[in-house]
Amino acid sequence: MNVNWTSDLSVGDHNIDDDHKGLFALIDELDSADMSHDYINSILDRLKAYTRGHFSREEVYMKNADFPGLEEHLKQHESFVEWLETIRSTYARFPQSPFIIGDSVNGYLQRWLRQHILEEDMKYRDYILGQQK
Ligand SMILES: [Fe+2]
Repeated sequence: MNVNWTSDLSVGDHNIDDDHKGLFALIDELDSADMSHDYINSILDRLKAYTRGHFSREEVYMKNADFPGLEEHLKQHESFVEWLETIRSTYARFPQSPFIIGDSVNGYLQRWLRQHILEEDMKYRDYILGQQK
């Protein structure tokens, strides 16, 4: 599975692209990690901090551009945050299965990130580029 950021994923803003690259790097790291307990905890913490910063940057970016799909987009971010919270609380209750958690986090992230960028983030990209013409 290709988990590298590629230029077809560019949303037209350097800061947001850099955030996305960071998320891909995190997935790549997760892919080759030994799923130890401490490692999973650190990944989940970093993922939380990372997405919080990234989502708010992206939300400000969309707001500033008066992007009409903002509400819809916010829902996508919310459901990601909910997924992450579910994983975190599941893992807190069943810490004996770091491998299973690591594997399912990895699979979900790989699917979510590509799909979200290509389908959702591209909507604001197209809108904002259209405005600039
Ligand atoms: Fe997004």
